[in-house]
Amino acid sequence: MTQSQQSHRKDEHVFLAEKYFQSVAHAGFDQVRLLHRALPETTMAAVDLKPDLPFNWQWPIYINAMTGGSPQTGKLNAQLGQLAQALGVAIASGSQSVALRDPQLVPTFATLRDHDPNGFILANVGAGHHATAAEAAVAMLKANALEIHLNAAQEVVMPEGDRDFMWQANIKSIIATSQVPIVVKEVGNGFIREDLQSLQQLGVQFVDVGGRGGTNFATIENARRSGHDFAYLQDWGQTTVESLLEARGLGLTMLATGGVRSPLDVVKALRLGAHAVGMSGLVLHHLIQTGYEATLAYFQNFLHQLRQLYALLGVTNWQELQEAPIVLSADLEHYRQARGLPGI
Ligand code: FNR
Repeated sequence: MTQSQQSHRKDEHVFLAEKYFQSVAHAGFDQVRLLHRALPETTMAAVDLKPDLPFNWQWPIYINAMTGGSPQTGKLNAQLGQLAQALGVAIASGSQSVALRDPQLVPTFATLRDHDPNGFILANVGAGHHATAAEAAVAMLKANALEIHLNAAQEVVMPEGDRDFMWQANIKSIIATSQVPIVVKEVGNGFIREDLQSLQQLGVQFVDVGGRGGTNFATIENARRSGHDFAYLQDWGQTTVESLLEARGLGLTMLATGGVRSPLDVVKALRLGAHAVGMSGLVLHHLIQTGYEATLAYFQNFLHQLRQLYALLGVTNWQELQEAPIVLSADLEHYRQARGLPGI
């Protein structure tokens, strides 16, 4: 593929993600009920939102991987870097593969670091890459961690996508040689327990479930196919909530992304065991629709509301939240039992 074709693809992904953005997502959060406490016995001042993670994150939310690789997406990354810096949240880069192949594209990614010089930045490569490429991606951003994305469904539907999914040896060698922590993530189709256990055997500690229900790459890539013939795959995968249930009790450190639309969705994901919660589509939607200043104000208020929700639930930190009373819908409870997953 030529450089201009690759850049065009990056622009199309942003355009199509926004075109198909749904303000009500289907990531399973409506199947989880947190119960109201009439006597919370808390104060907002006592709430400590700092995640229980071995990273230096102030907040339990982060901006997840999106873009880079074209002039337009470079500008978007500049805004995203600025937003992460202003909010004090961690941010992941979009896949850096194109810039590893074509160094002229490096500035469209490095702008993240330029705008967030002291922030926590996660580099991003696909699992088809070897350890040397992973190291170069980290160096490109002076990154604090590296995301390895798993996107088999996207590649299948993508007209020019990979057809080779032999990934485990790469993940193992990246883990063995990396100077920074590794987060393995899906891009919107989630996980089942068996694959999480395989990752664990490869030495993975941090997993972002990247569940179904938000940004949908089967839909996005299908729109890029002339025949649109993969429409039937749009509900493929496990939702963010199902994926968190799949992970319970394994001892992995979980992060969650996929269809997060509100502070309440974040608190539900945290209650289901995620240590922090990522958002891509929602951030992109606000930036495109309302501009930088309004997006900053929106997410500042979002952080404030997280604190309010903790207080409302009568908990002051993540550990206490794990004990908050919760009810799963009959469908979700059926899923849990059919899969033989631990109780909540
Ligand atoms: C993404 N996502 C993504 N993930 C990744 O690991 N590498 C990438 O290059 C991209 N590219 C990308 C582009 C755009 C425009 C979007 C919106 C998303 C996936 C993203 O990180 C996340 O896993 C999913 O989007 C699900 O979260 P949301 O969007 O539902 O909050």
